[in-house]
Amino acid sequence: MPSDRLVIAIDGPSGSGKSSTSREMARRLGLAYLDTGAMYRAVAVAFLDAGVDPADTDAVIAATTGADIELSLDPDESWVRVNGRDVTAEIREPRTSAVVSTVARIPQCRADLVARQRALMDAAPSGVVAEGRDITTVVYPDADVRLLLTASEEARLARRGTELGGRLSASELRDQVLRRDRDDSALVEFQTAADGVLLLDTSDLTFDQVVEAILTLVKESTS
Ligand code: DC
Repeated sequence: MPSDRLVIAIDGPSGSGKSSTSREMARRLGLAYLDTGAMYRAVAVAFLDAGVDPADTDAVIAATTGADIELSLDPDESWVRVNGRDVTAEIREPRTSAVVSTVARIPQCRADLVARQRALMDAAPSGVVAEGRDITTVVYPDADVRLLLTASEEARLARRGTELGGRLSASELRDQVLRRDRDDSALVEFQTAADGVLLLDTSDLTFDQVVEAILTLVKESTS
């Protein structure tokens, strides 16, 4: 990798704070920002649009490999288009969250998206902060900085609750977060840091403290 580029890979479970802090890191360092979960979500919208049965693996693979996915790499501007249609809001809807793991658990779909993610990361002129579940291990194990964010179940539940603006009861929220944890950990190992991956527990840190801690880790690992 040319030394004038900086690639930062950040993995972690939902509620670990990785999306908001990765975006802010990209802003502060003048880098592109890649939300790989948005790509899995965009494909889920594409196959829902096409009326594909989630149980029909071949059709899900065809919908994935055939999907034209465009997404903003600008940390200040968030949009996603699939097959020419803006799906920025739709990718966050419950019906999308409910089927996204169908895409994520099919190896051919993962391979297709991983290749696209690497290409996007390689093309970012100054470098990129990319976040997901397998960026430090599968997508970009050669990243300059590899980081796994963790947080206690309690902290993750509190953050998701705030994000959802109290729309779910405490038990609904708990069911949703724990189900996602279970589904996601069946896809790829991202709960423990692989060799060479830095671990940051964000449970007791504010957003600003997490950003500062990551900036310090980036400085230490690149100096
Ligand atoms: O981070 P997120 O909640 O937007 O991710 C959506 C889904 O995609 C989630 O169920 C896990 C999966 N995913 C993945 O398997 N690998 C990634 N690099 C990113 C997301």
